[in-house]
Amino acid sequence: MPTNQRDALKALRGKYPRLEPGHVWLVGAGPGDPGLLTLDALAALAQADVIVHDALIDRRVLVLAGPQAQLEYVGKRGGQPSTQQTDICDRLIALARAGHRVVRLKGGDPCVFGRGGEEGAALAHAAIPYRIIPGITAGLAALTAASIPATMRGVNHAIVFATGNAGPDEDIDWAALARTGQPIVIYMAMRYIQRIAEALSRGGLAADTPAAVIVAATMAQERIVISRLDRLADDVEATGVDLPGLIVVGDIVNEREKLLQIAAEVEVAR
Ligand SMILES: C[S@@+](CC[C@H](N)C(=O)[O-])C[C@H]1O[C@@H](n2cnc3c(N)ncnc32)[C@H](O)[C@@H]1O
Repeated sequence: MPTNQRDALKALRGKYPRLEPGHVWLVGAGPGDPGLLTLDALAALAQADVIVHDALIDRRVLVLAGPQAQLEYVGKRGGQPSTQQTDICDRLIALARAGHRVVRLKGGDPCVFGRGGEEGAALAHAAIPYRIIPGITAGLAALTAASIPATMRGVNHAIVFATGNAGPDEDIDWAALARTGQPIVIYMAMRYIQRIAEALSRGGLAADTPAAVIVAATMAQERIVISRLDRLADDVEATGVDLPGLIVVGDIVNEREKLLQIAAEVEVAR
């Protein structure tokens, strides 16, 4: 590393906020690849003496914890037994009151379908000092890593993030989202691909609308399935992948092929 870069990093490190005993930091760990952690997340991992983490945290991130850190798993995976949210909040409060430096490590960004807001509110109610450190949300990182630009001039001027996991009482108006004509990125929806695709079709999306699923983005098990709306569920099932992933629906999916094509042509020309 060049000296100026090392000095700049050293100077930055000197300014890192200290994780004090009795404080909690809610930290975004990004999509998986440790290269996508923020410097603040790294500082948090180095200082914590307890790290309370989710299921989707990559092992390569966890090994960056300081030697003093004790890891506590409170993962929640769709359809499997999981730690109750109230128990997680109570645990964070108890650890802080016991004087620990606590990091609550969450996949992606803590406040994008990650209950960071709820945990922050619980800590605030309990008068526990806390801080939220943003992370790169999977919905953006997975697309970019797969060469699917989230926005592309002439293709879209907005993007919709949705969850496929809303409860029956709060089901999303998929037809209304379809009518926006903008690409839709859907989290926590792997079990509902067929149902969501049909609902989007009823909202007016053509059967051949480009669609993709990206599982385990930026991790060793990453898989990308490129398809179209009416075939997506079958194509994903045919791959046999059973990992958390994202659905992407819209013309931005076609941009991947174009980008890869340009890259291939340049490579051949070299
Ligand atoms: C409970 S949500 C948490 C989202 C997280 N807070 C974020 O900002 O990315 C979990 C969902 O995020 C998506 N997800 C998280 N990490 C992912 C990854 N590496 N690849 C693909 N999807 C991912 C999946 O849809 C998964 O079901």
